[in-house]
Amino acid sequence: MTKRFVVCGLCLCIMLCTLEAKKEKSPVYKNANAPTEKRVEDLLLRMTMEEKVLQLSQYVAGRNTNANNIGEEVKNIPAEIGALLYYSTSPRLRNDIQKKAMEESRLGIPVLFGHDVIHGFRTVYPISIAQACSWNPALVEKACAMAAKEARLAGLDWTFSPMIDVARDPRWGRVSEGYGEDPYTNGVFAVASVKGYQGDDLADGEHIAACLKHYIGYGASEAGRDYVYTEISSQTLWDTYMLPYEMGVKAGAATLMSGFHDISGVPASANHYTMREVLKGRWNYDGFVVSDWGSVVQLISQGAAANLKEASEKAIMAGVDMDMMSRGYDKYLIELVKEGKVPVEVVNDAVRRILRLKFRLGLFENPYIRETTEKERFLQPEDIRLAEKLAEESFVLLKNRENRLPLPVDTRVAVIGPLGKNRWNLLGSWTAHGKDGDVIGIYDGLELELKDKSQLLYAKGCEFEGNDESGFAEAVATAKEADVILLCLGEKRNWSGENASRASIALPKIQEKLAMELKKTGKPIVLLLSSGRPLELCRLDPVCDAIIEIWQPGIAGGRPLAGILMGRINPSGKLPITFPYTAGQIPIYYNRRQSARPHQGKYQDVTIEPLYEFGHGLSYTTFEYGDLKASATQLCPGDKLTVEVLVTNTGDRDGMETVHWFITDPYSTITRPVKELKYFEKRMLKAGETGIFKFEVDLLHDLGFVDGDGRRFFESGTYYIQVKDKKVKVEVATES
Ligand code: BGC
Repeated sequence: MTKRFVVCGLCLCIMLCTLEAKKEKSPVYKNANAPTEKRVEDLLLRMTMEEKVLQLSQYVAGRNTNANNIGEEVKNIPAEIGALLYYSTSPRLRNDIQKKAMEESRLGIPVLFGHDVIHGFRTVYPISIAQACSWNPALVEKACAMAAKEARLAGLDWTFSPMIDVARDPRWGRVSEGYGEDPYTNGVFAVASVKGYQGDDLADGEHIAACLKHYIGYGASEAGRDYVYTEISSQTLWDTYMLPYEMGVKAGAATLMSGFHDISGVPASANHYTMREVLKGRWNYDGFVVSDWGSVVQLISQGAAANLKEASEKAIMAGVDMDMMSRGYDKYLIELVKEGKVPVEVVNDAVRRILRLKFRLGLFENPYIRETTEKERFLQPEDIRLAEKLAEESFVLLKNRENRLPLPVDTRVAVIGPLGKNRWNLLGSWTAHGKDGDVIGIYDGLELELKDKSQLLYAKGCEFEGNDESGFAEAVATAKEADVILLCLGEKRNWSGENASRASIALPKIQEKLAMELKKTGKPIVLLLSSGRPLELCRLDPVCDAIIEIWQPGIAGGRPLAGILMGRINPSGKLPITFPYTAGQIPIYYNRRQSARPHQGKYQDVTIEPLYEFGHGLSYTTFEYGDLKASATQLCPGDKLTVEVLVTNTGDRDGMETVHWFITDPYSTITRPVKELKYFEKRMLKAGETGIFKFEVDLLHDLGFVDGDGRRFFESGTYYIQVKDKKVKVEVATES
């Protein structure tokens, strides 16, 4: 009896061991059909602390080409590393590194490969500030999807984009990377980018994870300098900076990046309130936060931590889940946990978030990528067409005196200026793997457009900067031969972007001087301006008959630009950021608060008006706006309100028009901006056509406002809904 019992006990034991072994052959985390959360928990339970902290670390692979981030390629990458900044475009290298992770690490956790795919990958499309001028989020979404596809084929799973830092200081080089001065506009393009990069299924092999950055308020960098302090009151934090992130998070952004800046005394990378409390607490965010490059170790230079260990403690406790290149988490987290300074649960929570994304990306099932040729991966004809379309819609016709544009067919055109034949600078900052050989520049585009139809002349005139005027004489002589001067001026691509602040936002004197010399010829001047920021144009503007802001259009700007110049295309871009009259007006933006004395408080020496305001942009046709019609003017909360405006294309060309809907709340418990953009819509109207544009107002959201802790208020009173100079008044009673 006893013996039988012993035998049965043994059998049971063996059975259990076999079951266990079977289970081990296919643990839950390796089961593609198990729910993601179960897989995450299963894997987490198996991990040692050493494995966990490596998951929370990001190193560099491939040759680091970023001049701002001085950090060597890590040659000896541990098989357990969580993520890599991947500078290569080789699927082979990725697969080799991934093989090591899958086969040499104990648990076979795949690596996440990330890089800055900001405005395209190899097919470079316009910089973000230019994209916003299109007011066409659907097009931006498509462009991001195209970039995602190229990037994925080249070995990436993750992009550090979109940058949605509201920016109101054009001296700051990074205005080029965002969508301008308005919170809602940044929010709409955040949503479009997230949808484009991530698609409906992150695991479909064509999409990549997005990253909203730099959480939060980086655009407020003092005096437009990079990496410095930002003074952001809690009210401003919520009024101006939170909305785009809230919208991007709701749209499902997989990750967020913290920032380099100090937010009123608490650096972004150690900010418990913004990351732990708001993002992960109130918004229930289940993605992860990566630090910016070295922003953990930089807590020391910011005076927030005495050493890297303390910096790592502060960052992880505040909610930074992954350490990009500070090498603090891998060095100190285990110690910090042992000392009880960082609870294990904080580490586990961060690891869970990173694993969750790896499962969502399907990396456990498909860790490797197909090894395609460059030709298969990049610059597909449909991608180039898309880049052209986005460039076309991003160009802004700022000025067109006496309808100088479009040019008559047989015009003799002189292309003059340092940008006329320059391709490299049209790419803009963060061009990932863009090449100037892919670019159709200004002159190239005109050559293709004009063929033999009219004469195309060229003179460089001068360099971008310096004092050399020796090219002026040739430029003047060339101009004299022509009917019109296309003056191609602007910034070099590295004059904007990260660590590229400028105290003066005027073009270098040599360029302005060239314009003045050309003016003396009496020939009309069309200025084609390429820049990564709004420029001070108060001296140039008067000498130009027409101005087109082309920003940095990427590889495919030349043809659509020529199309606009010659009238094949009707321009439709409008500004998402104010062009000051002069730099002394900065900060200048449309949604400022009201003044106590609107009739006073002006400058003694210059106007207080901008040169070109938010929303400005001309067309070759004209649009007439009717009066606004509201479905009701006396409302209670819960009522529906629709406001309509009839817009007629009164010219003789088809054209696209963007209608911007603003609200004004003239009196409120917390003062409100003079007006706030709440909705926009862009549509094609044929010549003579009238379109009805509608704004469905969400009373609580559109007329309400938040306080300094993000609580939403809605007050009874008078509100105005506004389009251009047309307004309609509505009264809302919170109690009937
Ligand atoms: C930038 C980030 C970028 C990161 C990685 C940093 O210097 O601020 O925007 O994503 O580098 O390249």
